[in-house]
Amino acid sequence: MNNGLPRPVTAVIIVAAGSGERLGYGLPKAAVPLGGEPILMHALRGVVASGVSSQVCVVLPAEAEDLHQLCEEFRQELADGGPLLTLVVGGSTRADSVRAGIAALMDGVEAVLVHDAARALTPEYVFHRVVDSLAAGAVAVIPGVPVVDTVKTVARTTGADTAIAPEVVTGTAPREELRSVQTPQGFRLSTLLQAHEAASGFDEKQSAAVTDDAMLVELLGVRVHAVHGSTQSLKITTPLDLIIAEGLLEGPLGIRWVEG
Ligand code: CTP
Ligand code: MG
Repeated sequence: MNNGLPRPVTAVIIVAAGSGERLGYGLPKAAVPLGGEPILMHALRGVVASGVSSQVCVVLPAEAEDLHQLCEEFRQELADGGPLLTLVVGGSTRADSVRAGIAALMDGVEAVLVHDAARALTPEYVFHRVVDSLAAGAVAVIPGVPVVDTVKTVARTTGADTAIAPEVVTGTAPREELRSVQTPQGFRLSTLLQAHEAASGFDEKQSAAVTDDAMLVELLGVRVHAVHGSTQSLKITTPLDLIIAEGLLEGPLGIRWVEG
């Protein structure tokens, strides 16, 4: 796993403060049960088991006492020498939640991995690939997988065309150059800080367009590297994703043995 290079002192920020509108479960997504325990706990156990971090900062929804309590219990389970577990409350956008996590990092952290709690089943090797790339000199690194669909750009039809179809195709993206991007996304702390400071002044429309941290780093003009992620690292977003995640957990091989 390890490329043999000294690894930076690393913290993982798990963002778990979203409301889970698209899942539609009536609970914050991080609290929704998956294989008998909240989605967040799968993500948290995965991060700790990877052993990549000196600190794990979990960004929780406001008024999520149950999740808070489960994290506190998990803290008791952590062996001596395990990572520092820090709990903070998130904000109204994902970027606000990441900034809340950054503000709670301990002194001495050199690199940060930002991970979505919604990617509850990310295999450990993905964390290692990201950290190894940082150790090798990357300032920013993201995991991604090839896109399986053909991706086209479209525009709304106008005039007489609207009677034919709502949209018209304007182009086809070159699939071999496309990646579906995942988390954990890794950054030198100074770069992540700079990127989020630049974004803190965004208006509502600009903020809504920010869907990952690497986007903000790209805006700084900093080179972002990419490593191979995993199809297991799906983001639980819709009810179908939850069914798939349950299926992965219950599969005959078991989640830990499936390489993606
Ligand atoms: N997130 C967060 N704070 C927010 C919004 C999102 O910490 N204000 C986190 C989510 O908890 C999730 C990750 O960012 O782990 C990715 O977001 P997404 O999948 O969009 O989750 P939700 O925002 O909860 O879902 P939805 O958009 O359907 O409401
Ligand atoms: Mg969201």
